[in-house]
Amino acid sequence: MSNILLVGNGAREHAIAEAIARSPQNPRLFSFMKANNPGIASLSEKIQPGSYADLAAITGFATANEIEFAVIGPEDPLNNGVVDALAQIGIPAVGPNQSLARLETSKSFTRNLVSKYNIPGNPQFKVFTSMDGVEAFLNALEGIVLKPDGLTGGKGVLVQGDHFATKEEALKLCTQILKDSFSVIVEEKFDGEEFSLQCLCDGKTVVGTPLVQDHKRRFDGDRGPNTGGMGSYSLPDHSMPFLKPSDIAEGLEITRQVAAALLKETGNPYKGVMYGGFIATKNGAKLLEYNARFGDPEAMNILPLLKTDFLEVCRHIIDGTLDKLKIEFEPKATVCKYIVPKGYGLPADHPDASSSKAKIAVGDVGAARLYYSSVDKREDGLYLSSSRAIGIVGIADTLDAARLIAEEGVKAVKGPVAYREDIGTQALIQKRIDHMKKIRNE
Ligand code: GLY
Repeated sequence: MSNILLVGNGAREHAIAEAIARSPQNPRLFSFMKANNPGIASLSEKIQPGSYADLAAITGFATANEIEFAVIGPEDPLNNGVVDALAQIGIPAVGPNQSLARLETSKSFTRNLVSKYNIPGNPQFKVFTSMDGVEAFLNALEGIVLKPDGLTGGKGVLVQGDHFATKEEALKLCTQILKDSFSVIVEEKFDGEEFSLQCLCDGKTVVGTPLVQDHKRRFDGDRGPNTGGMGSYSLPDHSMPFLKPSDIAEGLEITRQVAAALLKETGNPYKGVMYGGFIATKNGAKLLEYNARFGDPEAMNILPLLKTDFLEVCRHIIDGTLDKLKIEFEPKATVCKYIVPKGYGLPADHPDASSSKAKIAVGDVGAARLYYSSVDKREDGLYLSSSRAIGIVGIADTLDAARLIAEEGVKAVKGPVAYREDIGTQALIQKRIDHMKKIRNE
């Protein structure tokens, strides 16, 4: 029997835990979590609470439980070098080492890598460590994106039109970013529609998984502040209706070239998930950023559809033999809706901000799947934290049926919570299709 270590405590990791537990090989799951996720705990042989910076605690837990391999869910432990620490005690992992995790943890590293190896997909960009030359470069761009160099939990990117209006404001924001961050990346803004392409990589072979579209904005109609992601959908053909086949092929080819460039640049094979955030534009697919892990919520869309034994997928990633494994996903639609505290993403003085830490009740979610994220399970019940609380996923033959299952599931959660009703609706998807038609002049 195999003992598997899972590091992470969110809904993404709950979906990973479920994929591990589903294996016909009956593995035993050992989970290291910074906060107790009741869903992961219920699937685990043993859990250990602890900090993702405490590498000795993670390796100690792994040694004590004779772990075959580890799956690392979030970016923080990757950034802290957990994969390197596990390798030192002979335990392999699905997840890149600290140097390769720069794919996500350093936006300048990735932009420079793509540029150095002449890989398509980059915007016009420059990395600045001081304000020298920033103004001239801002003046050369039509639309502007500003990125602090480092982990920002998906909320650090500032986009002209959304977060600021003028070049003068951009200049001030760059000064501000450079106070907290070693560098700021100034980029050209693309017009288009975003899609998430999560690829499995063993260092040589890159395998695409069903495409997903996440929804960052807090409120229906893509309004309000950016969040970690309010929900996502995928379609039975594993594509997106606003994409051309060439957009998908380009995203995959960019990822293949980046995997090869990472090997050349660092001498180490990238073993884990390369999650490309792409945007379809009138000139094809462009790269917004990479994450070195599954997406959250996107993992909840694809992992439940995985027909191939996830344990075998992990072993082939670790052994560098992904080219020998047929990886299959059910041809079904999925809709994931995140239930969040009413005050999630709102300023602390907003009247709804007090919804955090409130008690919630979870009833019968019917045909939907439920993945716990940031909830606090106490003796007298379940409490919200200030983050996303529960992912509810509907899976069906059509998008509409999947959405209705998710909607039913959402209604089973009672308390001061909110979610986005429009995710997975035909109306929102038609908006994406119309937008792409307009920018392609079709
Ligand atoms: N879906 C956004 C993220 O996982 O970073």
